Amino acid sequence: MSYLIIDTDIGVDDAYAVKLAVLSGELLGVTTTYGNASVVQTTKNAKLALKTWQKNFKVYRGASRPLVIKPPVNDGHIHGIDGLGACYENNESPDADDAIHFIVECARKYKGEVTLLTIGPLTNLALALNIEPNLPNLLKGVISMGGAFGRDGHTGNMTHFAEFNIFADPHAAEEVCSAPFNLTLIPLDITHQVLIDEKDIASYHDEFLSNISKFYLDFSEKYEKFRGMCVHDALTAVYYKHPEFFEVTKSPIAVSTEGITFGQTHRIISSYASIPFDIFKDRPVHNIILNGDVKAIKEYMCQEMNKEN
Ligand code: RIB
Ligand code: CA
Repeated sequence: MSYLIIDTDIGVDDAYAVKLAVLSGELLGVTTTYGNASVVQTTKNAKLALKTWQKNFKVYRGASRPLVIKPPVNDGHIHGIDGLGACYENNESPDADDAIHFIVECARKYKGEVTLLTIGPLTNLALALNIEPNLPNLLKGVISMGGAFGRDGHTGNMTHFAEFNIFADPHAAEEVCSAPFNLTLIPLDITHQVLIDEKDIASYHDEFLSNISKFYLDFSEKYEKFRGMCVHDALTAVYYKHPEFFEVTKSPIAVSTEGITFGQTHRIISSYASIPFDIFKDRPVHNIILNGDVKAIKEYMCQEMNKEN
């Protein structure tokens, strides 16, 4: 058997990923974290999305702040002040069972069968690892949207070096990348290649996704001069079902937790045979997705989003 858990700071592009996870037919539950909004708000958002889609999945509430640093400031300029395009009144309760224990309990119960999609800061996964050090052997895999490695100039969207999910909690990201998870990282290098426009969104025939996307599209049109959006998080759910659409680069991953490169993800790019101070020594090798078949990814998203129509 295969099962999914999706860990989200549900924001607009997260909602596309959550919808695909729901459509996978393998979803066990949704865990929430701070990130695009507070964890109180993202828990409410996850419940609102699932209720709108008439899907009865449980939502579990996770971390309210990073392991070490202060939480990111949510000014709402991309996802709206509520994280979902500020277009729905959300009366859902923020109360929920604990996300960290849910992840660990599922991993123990379904040993080797659960894949965790993370589409926000990695705090929940790091906390779960602290509770259960054997988690990398219990989970089938982790597919994580985050990071940036500089391909075609995609180096960061929070600083010149750092992508938001990693920047929000680099200590958690460093703990996760140092652990022997079957980890696939989906960074800006590929997510910036997959842009959808209003026509693509309309082709999904999902009123909720269309409505919450308007705010993000307005932002893109104003600042990026393009009325469209990167569906960063959705690529985790696409990779889960169709890894063949993506090119895998194998490398250990290190994360800067201080200095001007704070929040930057690093892979081995030098070809030196021996390095005196090898920061990658003894680190596990992970999968990094730097490229993929954009046409196949977009065609699959449209087909999957219409599966139940
Ligand atoms: O950098 C992109 C990531 O930051 C996505 O997960 C998006 O939802 C935002 O949280
Ligand atoms: Ca996200």
